[in-house]
Amino acid sequence: MQKIIPFLAMLIVLAYAVYNAKFRHPEKVDTKTNRHYKEHIKTYKTTHYEDELSHINSDEYTKEYIIKVINQGSNSLDFKSGVMEAGFARPDDAEKIACYTMTLSGRKCKKAYPEDAAMFYTSICGGCHGNDGKGLGGVYPDLNKAKMLGIENREMFLKSMHKQQSDTK
Ligand code: HEC
Repeated sequence: MQKIIPFLAMLIVLAYAVYNAKFRHPEKVDTKTNRHYKEHIKTYKTTHYEDELSHINSDEYTKEYIIKVINQGSNSLDFKSGVMEAGFARPDDAEKIACYTMTLSGRKCKKAYPEDAAMFYTSICGGCHGNDGKGLGGVYPDLNKAKMLGIENREMFLKSMHKQQSDTK
């Protein structure tokens, strides 16, 4: 009897391996059947893409984008003078600098920002983007554009994803 136990154990392991390989298939993640995706559509009556596209031109979205660039760096827009590294400003100062940057093109933040934001912008960002945000005559990205380059790229990407989704429906 003692001799049979290891043999039995091996048989069980083998049988389990065969069962796994033959009968169990990993759950397929399909955007049409994915539970979270379905719930999102049910709650918001829209897809992620449509949702983001619907507010991509808003002041709030622009603010979040500038904060992201300050904290994480630009995601390589292939601008002439290279990429912008993360961390020119402290994360704590990113929001007020973003708000000040937006006023250069007439946009506004909902929350009032402290007065020293202008000083932060001119001393940290102005050297490259210009104190007026226009990018020193095209050497650096113009931060006064109605739609910043990164947002334009993101919009193009979302529209193409959205199109793919409607094509497969
Ligand atoms: C050393 C120069 C330099 C400094 C300093 C600098 N940037 Fe930049 N910034 C760049 C470059 C270069 C790019 C474009 C990078 C690319 O092609 O990916 C850029 C891109 C950006 C973009 C994206 C623009 C777009 O159209 O999508 C924003 C927003 C931005 N910078 C804001 C700031 C802010 C705010 C500060 C100050 C905290 C700052 N930058 C400091 C060089 C700089």
